[in-house]
Amino acid sequence: MNPNLAALLAQTERAMTAATRADYHGETHVGVDLGTAYTVLLVLDETYRPLAGTYRFANVVRDGLVVDFIGAIDLLRDLKRQVEARLGFELTHAATGFPPGVPLAEVRATANVVRAAGFDCRAEIDEPSAANAILQIRDGAVVDVGGGTTGIAIVRDGRVIYTADEATGGTHFSLVIAGALNISFDEAEKLKVDAREQDRLYPLVRPVMEKVGTIVARHIFGHAVETIHLVGGAANFQGIGQVVEEMTGVETVIPAQPLFVTPLGIAMNDIDKHAK
Ligand SMILES: Nc1ncnc2c1ncn2[C@@H]1O[C@H](COP(=O)(O)OP(=O)(O)OP(=O)(O)O)[C@@H](O)[C@H]1O
Ligand SMILES: [Mg+2]
Repeated sequence: MNPNLAALLAQTERAMTAATRADYHGETHVGVDLGTAYTVLLVLDETYRPLAGTYRFANVVRDGLVVDFIGAIDLLRDLKRQVEARLGFELTHAATGFPPGVPLAEVRATANVVRAAGFDCRAEIDEPSAANAILQIRDGAVVDVGGGTTGIAIVRDGRVIYTADEATGGTHFSLVIAGALNISFDEAEKLKVDAREQDRLYPLVRPVMEKVGTIVARHIFGHAVETIHLVGGAANFQGIGQVVEEMTGVETVIPAQPLFVTPLGIAMNDIDKHAK
């Protein structure tokens, strides 16, 4: 486990919300996470500390695959401009992530979006490996509950030995809430991320949490997993950890700001391969 995890995630949160101009002019490491729900842009300094970042909800990716190219490029250009304005210099390179198991053509498609938005794409990394670059667990499971999918990675001796990705994520929580309360998806999405509303929404979304738990249980079956580390935006929903723990019988932990774990790991992989 990374001993600096909590501090790193708290700093990422500050980097995402800071309105002031960052006073920095050194080397950067940039991560782009094109997600089903959120597209995240995160910039680290030369010592891999979060410097600036931003994210936005958009429907340009579905279940890890880019479905709206023009929309994705426009969105990323916009996020890039926004972060550059705060930094006072241009971002020229980035790394990007992809869900495990997607065809190579899809990985290329994601990299092409990053290029078209004006970055030299220096690395493409699978999302669970990115997440574990931050969590640094030696043995256990990393479960990324995003917007569209739940990604599972089993880690043994610090290496990812098994991955899977299945539909069910935060979007399904919102769909269930919208249906039950007879409100629009956007309204449900807004309600859901409000911590004060989550107690009353819990009975509605509990079956979706159980589905996530069942998926995890099925994939870790036969592997000696002692701890499950939940990351991804949907891990923010209060109570999901207990439900996954109940369904799997395995201790389940969630870092503060689980949404930023994978983007951080992607950014860490943006390195100049030709540098000495
Ligand atoms: N505080 C919160 N409480 C509950 N859900 C949240 C909260 N914050 C974000 N989410 C949900 O997390 C999801 C987005 O998480 P994340 O950014 O990890 O997914 P993604 O990378 O866009 O999707 P995917 O990985 O499936 O392509 C959305 O469904 C969003 O509503
Ligand atoms: Mg994701």
